[in-house]
Amino acid sequence: MAGMAQTPTSRPRILSGMQPTSDSLHIGNYIGALTSWIGLQDDFEPYFFVADLHALTVATDPEVVRRRTRLTAAQYIAAGIDTDRCAVFCQSHVREHAEVMWVLSCQTAMGEMERMTQFKDKVAKGQKANVGLFTYPVLMAGDILLYDAQRVPVGEDQRQHLEITRDLAVRFNQRFGETFVVPEPHILKQSAKIMDLQEPTAKMSKTSSSPKGMIDILDDPKRIAKNIRSAVTDGEGEVRYDPEGKPGVSNLLVIHSALSGTPVDELERRFEGQGYGSFKGEVADVVVDAVAPFRERIEELTSDPAELDRILAAGAERARTVAAATMDRVREAVGLLAAGV
Ligand code: TYM
Repeated sequence: MAGMAQTPTSRPRILSGMQPTSDSLHIGNYIGALTSWIGLQDDFEPYFFVADLHALTVATDPEVVRRRTRLTAAQYIAAGIDTDRCAVFCQSHVREHAEVMWVLSCQTAMGEMERMTQFKDKVAKGQKANVGLFTYPVLMAGDILLYDAQRVPVGEDQRQHLEITRDLAVRFNQRFGETFVVPEPHILKQSAKIMDLQEPTAKMSKTSSSPKGMIDILDDPKRIAKNIRSAVTDGEGEVRYDPEGKPGVSNLLVIHSALSGTPVDELERRFEGQGYGSFKGEVADVVVDAVAPFRERIEELTSDPAELDRILAAGAERARTVAAATMDRVREAVGLLAAGV
């Protein structure tokens, strides 16, 4: 039965999450992260959560947070995450996330957080910096360490957060004895950074891309095709992979290749001497075909919020079993008394 509570298996664990900061995931989230989650779900014991606590770092209407949390979970499932094999849950439903974060934040130097490039970028772009945004990577470290996750499938932009997670795990283990598994990033080489269509030297982003620079996976197919056709390229007219010299064309090649499975060099040969018009037309077809099934499935899933909530409750139950055991080890390690009965 979908989402049924299961006991943890002996397979190595993977864990990842996304922030519910938009109604639709974009093609970067899908290609950079979600496709690798799907590819790993058979060989690992997977924990995939909606990072609703992280999303509170951005001031958002509570109704919108609720809607986007359900929508984000629904998109995991619509994309092919199997709730029988994977625990799909909300971060806030497993209270150990907030608890372990406090303990880890007492092991984190101010300077380590001040160095985080995502924090610096967000502040530079005018986002108001609350303390939650500043300590965001510590919460993320807690998310990962609670589950003894060995691999963390994410896009390139999360690499620095994974490095601080590893640093914190090693430091904690050295000071308090072996408590945490030190996780490895799982970042696919070419597709881990999908760029903005209008500004192909910047990553596509839910919070900073313009609507024309994005491909939302739940968007209307006509708009998706239009955005791809108006993607910024260059004046050369040659379909060639060269991320430095031709970032726009290279980005479209990566998107096509990731979704169609056709190697980039084969695409270069296929479009030789054809200019950008037919190339962009085919990229648009490939993207529209890839995301079309999502929209239908999402409508089905969101039309029954009670069923979705049931799946999330079952996922949280599975997650809690693992998180609570880790948290017991953490409490013991740092010297917190066990709660009396
Ligand atoms: P978030 O919500 O910004 O992004 C979700 C996932 O999508 C990847 N991604 C991209 N990949 C390729 N190209 C892009 N343009 C692109 N934009 C985003 C991200 O790398 C990510 O894998 N901090 C995380 C959420 C999080 C988390 C965690 C992840 C919280 N706790 C623990 C892993 C483990 C975030 O904000 O992702």
